[in-house]
Amino acid sequence: MNDKQRVAIHAAQRVENGMLVGLGTGSTADYFIAELARRRAEENLQITAVSSSVVSMRKAQALAIPLVGIEHVTHLDLYVDGADEVTADNTLLKGQGSDLVKEKLLARACDQFLVLVDQSKMVERIGARFPIPVEVMPFAWQMVQQGLEQLGGRGQLRETDKGLAVTSYGSLVLDMVFNAEQDSDEIDFILNSMPGVIEHGIFRGLADIVFLAVDGKVQEISS
Ligand code: A5P
Repeated sequence: MNDKQRVAIHAAQRVENGMLVGLGTGSTADYFIAELARRRAEENLQITAVSSSVVSMRKAQALAIPLVGIEHVTHLDLYVDGADEVTADNTLLKGQGSDLVKEKLLARACDQFLVLVDQSKMVERIGARFPIPVEVMPFAWQMVQQGLEQLGGRGQLRETDKGLAVTSYGSLVLDMVFNAEQDSDEIDFILNSMPGVIEHGIFRGLADIVFLAVDGKVQEISS
């Protein structure tokens, strides 16, 4: 068993009968979804799930997990997802996938947001390993990019091997790098109020518990 699987199986123990559970996106979230399906089949666990992306929806559908659309939901019991970076105060960087909006909606609407990571995700500062994804209205990307460059950022539109990356809802993603000295709380504040920005990858004050796999064991870091 690898660390991502270990931490996902550990977190799945938090799921109880009757819960509405948000499903994250990525390889770690996939292990969590698989463990939920196993518990449904073998332990008769009764749950309903909400997916954070088309990818996690298809995974859950393939494993016969009952789903409800996010548009029908105002509140969840649990949201369980991976992250790309985690700092000591449980601030996250997310968004290497392309459904940031749903991910942040679920993170805000749940009683408990559990984050699943291995040691490779722990960083000293947000932006240490990955650019900060900034999802923008398609017609706003140049204005947003210029605005962020004036604040010392630099970056470009995300591309895939098939061309420009477009999210499930038709927006574009700027991957922005800032100076190491620039505080991520300040960047979060600026992005939250910048016209044309739909959402961004800094998840500050949202994670309740980070489950961290280290040397075959799972540590729980509460916020
Ligand atoms: C999805 O947009 C991201 O926020 C993922 O949670 C992140 O990329 C984690 O992926 P892995 O679990 O595959 O490392």
